[in-house]
Amino acid sequence: MAEHRLALVVGANRGIGLGVTEAFLAAGWDVIATARRPAEATALGDVADRHRGRMTILPLEMTDPTALDGFGALLGDRKLDAVLINAGVAGPGHRSADAATEVEIGVLMFTNAVAPIRLARTIVPHLKPGPGVLAFSSSVMGSVAMNSGGGHELYRASKAALNSLTRGLWGELRGRNLTVLSLHPGWVRTDMGGAGAPVSVEESAQGIVRVIEAQSGAYQHRYLDYNGSEIAW
Ligand SMILES: NC(=O)c1ccc[n+]([C@@H]2O[C@H](COP(=O)([O-])OP(=O)(O)OC[C@H]3O[C@@H](n4cnc5c(N)ncnc54)[C@H](OP(=O)(O)O)[C@@H]3O)[C@@H](O)[C@H]2O)c1
Repeated sequence: MAEHRLALVVGANRGIGLGVTEAFLAAGWDVIATARRPAEATALGDVADRHRGRMTILPLEMTDPTALDGFGALLGDRKLDAVLINAGVAGPGHRSADAATEVEIGVLMFTNAVAPIRLARTIVPHLKPGPGVLAFSSSVMGSVAMNSGGGHELYRASKAALNSLTRGLWGELRGRNLTVLSLHPGWVRTDMGGAGAPVSVEESAQGIVRVIEAQSGAYQHRYLDYNGSEIAW
Protein backbone atom coordinates (compact mmCIF):
# COMPACT_ATOMS: atom_id res chain seq x y z
CA MET A 1 0.00 0.00 0.00
CA ALA A 2 1.26 3.51 -0.84
CA GLU A 3 2.51 5.53 2.15
CA HIS A 4 0.15 8.33 3.18
CA ARG A 5 1.39 11.88 2.84
CA LEU A 6 2.06 13.48 6.23
CA ALA A 7 0.99 17.02 7.19
CA LEU A 8 1.70 19.05 10.34
CA VAL A 9 -0.99 21.56 11.42
CA VAL A 10 0.05 23.98 14.18
CA GLY A 11 -2.83 25.45 16.21
CA ALA A 12 -5.37 22.75 15.38
CA ASN A 13 -7.72 22.53 18.36
CA ARG A 14 -10.41 24.89 16.98
CA GLY A 15 -11.26 27.17 14.07
CA ILE A 16 -9.43 26.94 10.75
CA GLY A 17 -6.68 24.66 12.12
CA LEU A 18 -9.22 22.06 13.24
CA GLY A 19 -10.96 22.31 9.86
CA VAL A 20 -7.68 21.93 7.93
CA THR A 21 -6.80 18.87 10.03
CA GLU A 22 -10.13 17.26 9.06
CA ALA A 23 -9.72 18.31 5.41
CA PHE A 24 -6.22 16.75 5.21
CA LEU A 25 -7.56 13.50 6.72
CA ALA A 26 -10.53 13.49 4.29
CA ALA A 27 -8.08 13.93 1.39
CA GLY A 28 -6.14 10.84 2.53
CA TRP A 29 -3.28 12.49 4.41
CA ASP A 30 -1.98 11.51 7.85
CA VAL A 31 -1.74 14.46 10.27
CA ILE A 32 0.32 15.63 13.22
CA ALA A 33 -1.75 18.32 14.94
CA THR A 34 -0.73 20.63 17.78
CA ALA A 35 -2.67 22.19 20.63
CA ARG A 36 -1.48 24.21 23.60
CA ARG A 37 -3.13 21.75 25.99
CA PRO A 38 -3.91 18.45 24.21
CA ALA A 39 -5.81 17.08 27.25
CA GLU A 40 -8.35 19.93 26.89
CA ALA A 41 -8.54 19.76 23.07
CA THR A 42 -11.69 17.61 23.01
CA ALA A 43 -12.81 18.39 19.44
CA LEU A 44 -9.34 17.50 18.15
CA GLY A 45 -9.33 14.36 20.31
CA ASP A 46 -12.66 13.32 18.75
CA VAL A 47 -11.14 13.70 15.26
CA ALA A 48 -8.16 11.57 16.33
CA ASP A 49 -10.53 8.90 17.69
CA ARG A 50 -12.32 8.77 14.33
CA HIS A 51 -8.99 8.37 12.49
CA ARG A 52 -7.08 5.99 14.72
CA GLY A 53 -3.52 5.32 13.55
CA ARG A 54 -3.52 8.33 11.18
CA MET A 55 -3.23 11.20 13.65
CA THR A 56 -0.83 12.32 16.39
CA ILE A 57 -1.46 15.26 18.74
CA LEU A 58 1.57 17.14 20.13
CA PRO A 59 1.65 20.02 22.65
CA LEU A 60 2.90 23.45 21.52
CA GLU A 61 2.61 26.91 23.07
CA MET A 62 3.69 29.57 20.55
CA THR A 63 4.75 32.08 23.21
CA ASP A 64 7.22 29.62 24.78
CA PRO A 65 10.62 29.99 23.02
CA THR A 66 11.94 26.76 24.55
CA ALA A 67 8.96 24.82 23.20
CA LEU A 68 9.42 26.40 19.75
CA ASP A 69 13.13 25.62 19.58
CA GLY A 70 12.61 22.06 20.86
CA PHE A 71 9.68 21.19 18.61
CA GLY A 72 11.80 19.71 15.80
CA ALA A 73 13.12 17.11 18.25
CA LEU A 74 9.53 16.04 19.08
CA LEU A 75 9.10 15.10 15.41
CA GLY A 76 11.84 12.47 15.70
CA ASP A 77 12.65 10.95 12.32
CA ARG A 78 9.25 11.76 10.79
CA LYS A 79 9.38 13.40 7.34
CA LEU A 80 6.67 15.89 6.39
CA ASP A 81 5.06 16.60 3.01
CA ALA A 82 3.28 19.76 4.20
CA VAL A 83 3.19 22.12 7.19
CA LEU A 84 0.58 24.77 8.03
CA ILE A 85 1.67 27.11 10.82
CA ASN A 86 -1.78 28.45 11.61
CA ALA A 87 -1.89 29.57 15.27
CA GLY A 88 -2.53 33.28 15.60
CA VAL A 89 -4.23 35.95 17.71
CA ALA A 90 -6.28 39.05 16.90
CA GLY A 91 -4.39 41.30 19.33
CA PRO A 92 -5.76 43.74 21.89
CA GLY A 93 -9.46 44.59 21.62
CA HIS A 94 -8.79 48.35 21.22
CA ARG A 95 -6.89 47.57 17.95
CA SER A 96 -5.10 50.90 18.12
CA ALA A 97 -1.42 51.86 17.96
CA ASP A 98 -2.30 54.88 20.09
CA ALA A 99 -3.57 52.73 22.97
CA ALA A 100 -1.09 49.83 22.67
CA THR A 101 1.23 48.81 25.47
CA GLU A 102 4.65 47.20 25.04
CA VAL A 103 3.31 43.96 26.47
CA GLU A 104 0.33 43.86 24.08
CA ILE A 105 2.59 44.48 21.07
CA GLY A 106 5.10 41.96 22.34
CA VAL A 107 2.50 39.18 22.60
CA LEU A 108 0.88 40.02 19.24
CA MET A 109 4.11 40.32 17.26
CA PHE A 110 5.76 37.34 18.91
CA THR A 111 2.74 35.05 18.43
CA ASN A 112 1.79 36.08 14.87
CA ALA A 113 5.14 36.95 13.27
CA VAL A 114 8.25 35.85 15.17
CA ALA A 115 7.13 32.50 16.64
CA PRO A 116 5.96 31.03 13.28
CA ILE A 117 9.36 31.72 11.71
CA ARG A 118 11.31 30.51 14.73
CA LEU A 119 9.21 27.33 14.70
CA ALA A 120 9.61 26.89 10.95
CA ARG A 121 13.40 26.85 11.28
CA THR A 122 13.20 23.80 13.58
CA ILE A 123 10.72 22.06 11.24
CA VAL A 124 12.46 22.65 7.88
CA PRO A 125 14.93 19.75 8.34
CA HIS A 126 11.85 17.46 8.56
CA LEU A 127 10.27 18.71 5.30
CA LYS A 128 10.78 16.48 2.27
CA PRO A 129 12.76 18.27 -0.47
CA GLY A 130 10.69 18.11 -3.67
CA PRO A 131 7.08 17.79 -2.51
CA GLY A 132 7.58 19.75 0.75
CA VAL A 133 5.28 22.77 1.30
CA LEU A 134 5.78 25.19 4.21
CA ALA A 135 2.61 27.29 4.60
CA PHE A 136 1.72 30.06 7.03
CA SER A 137 -1.75 31.36 7.93
CA SER A 138 -1.26 34.96 6.88
CA SER A 139 -4.18 37.24 5.99
CA VAL A 140 -5.16 39.63 3.22
CA MET A 141 -4.88 42.15 6.05
CA GLY A 142 -1.11 41.66 5.87
CA SER A 143 -1.11 43.15 2.37
CA VAL A 144 0.23 46.71 2.29
CA ALA A 145 -0.94 47.10 -1.34
CA MET A 146 -4.54 46.07 -0.52
CA ASN A 147 -4.90 48.27 2.58
CA SER A 148 -7.15 51.02 1.29
CA GLY A 149 -9.39 51.43 4.32
CA GLY A 150 -7.21 51.14 7.42
CA GLY A 151 -8.53 49.65 10.65
CA HIS A 152 -7.23 46.61 12.54
CA GLU A 153 -3.84 48.32 12.26
CA LEU A 154 -1.96 46.23 14.82
CA TYR A 155 -3.20 42.89 13.45
CA ARG A 156 -2.42 44.09 9.90
CA ALA A 157 1.10 45.00 10.97
CA SER A 158 1.62 41.58 12.58
CA LYS A 159 0.64 39.74 9.38
CA ALA A 160 2.71 42.13 7.21
CA ALA A 161 5.64 41.34 9.53
CA LEU A 162 4.94 37.62 9.15
CA ASN A 163 4.97 37.98 5.35
CA SER A 164 8.27 39.89 5.49
CA LEU A 165 9.90 37.35 7.81
CA THR A 166 8.58 34.52 5.62
CA ARG A 167 10.21 36.08 2.55
CA GLY A 168 13.49 36.25 4.48
CA LEU A 169 13.19 32.58 5.44
CA TRP A 170 12.42 31.74 1.81
CA GLY A 171 15.74 33.37 0.87
CA GLU A 172 17.52 31.06 3.33
CA LEU A 173 15.79 28.01 1.83
CA ARG A 174 16.70 28.68 -1.81
CA GLY A 175 18.10 25.60 -3.49
CA ARG A 176 16.37 23.19 -1.10
CA ASN A 177 13.45 22.49 -3.49
CA LEU A 178 10.77 23.55 -1.01
CA THR A 179 7.63 25.63 -1.63
CA VAL A 180 6.66 28.42 0.79
CA LEU A 181 3.12 29.84 0.97
CA SER A 182 1.64 32.85 2.76
CA LEU A 183 -2.05 31.90 2.77
CA HIS A 184 -5.19 33.98 3.30
CA PRO A 185 -7.89 31.58 4.51
CA GLY A 186 -10.75 33.90 3.56
CA TRP A 187 -12.90 35.74 6.09
CA VAL A 188 -14.01 32.68 8.01
CA ARG A 189 -16.72 31.99 10.62
CA THR A 190 -14.49 31.21 13.65
CA ASP A 191 -14.02 32.77 17.08
CA MET A 192 -11.64 35.24 15.38
CA GLY A 193 -13.61 35.83 12.16
CA GLY A 194 -16.99 36.13 13.93
CA ALA A 195 -20.44 34.73 13.15
CA GLY A 196 -21.02 37.18 10.28
CA ALA A 197 -18.06 36.03 8.17
CA PRO A 198 -19.04 34.78 4.69
CA VAL A 199 -16.83 31.67 4.46
CA SER A 200 -17.39 28.43 6.41
CA VAL A 201 -14.52 26.61 8.10
CA GLU A 202 -15.09 23.61 5.80
CA GLU A 203 -14.93 25.70 2.60
CA SER A 204 -11.79 27.52 3.73
CA ALA A 205 -10.08 24.35 4.99
CA GLN A 206 -10.80 22.31 1.85
CA GLY A 207 -9.52 25.21 -0.26
CA ILE A 208 -6.32 25.48 1.79
CA VAL A 209 -5.60 21.75 1.35
CA ARG A 210 -6.28 22.00 -2.41
CA VAL A 211 -3.92 25.00 -2.72
CA ILE A 212 -1.17 23.22 -0.75
CA GLU A 213 -1.53 20.12 -2.95
CA ALA A 214 -1.54 22.20 -6.16
CA GLN A 215 1.51 24.30 -5.19
CA SER A 216 3.71 21.34 -4.20
CA GLY A 217 6.76 21.42 -6.43
CA ALA A 218 6.39 25.11 -7.35
CA TYR A 219 9.59 25.97 -5.39
CA GLN A 220 8.47 29.59 -4.94
CA HIS A 221 7.18 31.87 -2.18
CA ARG A 222 3.61 32.83 -3.06
CA TYR A 223 0.89 34.91 -1.34
CA LEU A 224 -2.40 33.19 -2.18
CA ASP A 225 -5.96 32.98 -0.88
CA TYR A 226 -7.81 29.73 -0.16
CA ASN A 227 -9.00 29.61 -3.79
CA GLY A 228 -5.44 29.83 -5.09
CA SER A 229 -5.80 33.46 -6.26
CA GLU A 230 -2.71 35.65 -5.96
CA ILE A 231 -2.72 38.55 -3.45
CA ALA A 232 -0.68 41.72 -3.99
CA TRP A 233 2.05 42.17 -1.36
N1 LIG B 1 -10.96 33.75 10.73
C1 LIG B 1 -10.59 34.57 9.76
O1 LIG B 1 -11.46 35.21 9.10
C2 LIG B 1 -9.13 34.75 9.40
C3 LIG B 1 -8.83 35.58 8.31
C4 LIG B 1 -7.50 35.74 7.94
C5 LIG B 1 -6.50 35.08 8.64
N2 LIG B 1 -6.82 34.28 9.71
C6 LIG B 1 -5.71 33.61 10.41
O2 LIG B 1 -5.95 32.21 10.40
C7 LIG B 1 -5.42 31.63 11.61
C8 LIG B 1 -6.51 30.84 12.32
O3 LIG B 1 -7.59 31.73 12.57
P1 LIG B 1 -8.96 31.26 13.26
O4 LIG B 1 -10.01 32.13 12.72
O5 LIG B 1 -9.10 29.79 13.20
O6 LIG B 1 -8.68 31.72 14.77
P2 LIG B 1 -9.25 31.16 16.15
O7 LIG B 1 -10.56 30.49 15.94
O8 LIG B 1 -9.14 32.29 17.12
O9 LIG B 1 -8.17 30.01 16.54
C9 LIG B 1 -6.85 30.39 16.79
C10 LIG B 1 -5.99 29.15 16.95
O10 LIG B 1 -4.65 29.58 17.24
C11 LIG B 1 -4.26 28.99 18.48
N3 LIG B 1 -3.35 29.85 19.23
C12 LIG B 1 -3.50 31.16 19.53
N4 LIG B 1 -2.49 31.59 20.30
C13 LIG B 1 -1.69 30.50 20.50
C14 LIG B 1 -0.49 30.30 21.22
N5 LIG B 1 0.10 31.29 21.91
N6 LIG B 1 0.07 29.07 21.21
C15 LIG B 1 -0.52 28.06 20.52
N7 LIG B 1 -1.66 28.19 19.83
C16 LIG B 1 -2.24 29.40 19.82
C17 LIG B 1 -5.55 28.80 19.25
O11 LIG B 1 -5.36 27.90 20.33
P3 LIG B 1 -6.17 28.13 21.75
O12 LIG B 1 -7.53 27.51 21.55
O13 LIG B 1 -5.32 27.40 22.74
O14 LIG B 1 -6.24 29.60 21.98
C18 LIG B 1 -6.43 28.28 18.13
O15 LIG B 1 -6.16 26.93 17.87
C19 LIG B 1 -4.85 32.78 12.44
O16 LIG B 1 -3.46 32.87 12.20
C20 LIG B 1 -5.58 34.00 11.88
O17 LIG B 1 -4.84 35.18 12.06
C21 LIG B 1 -8.12 34.10 10.11
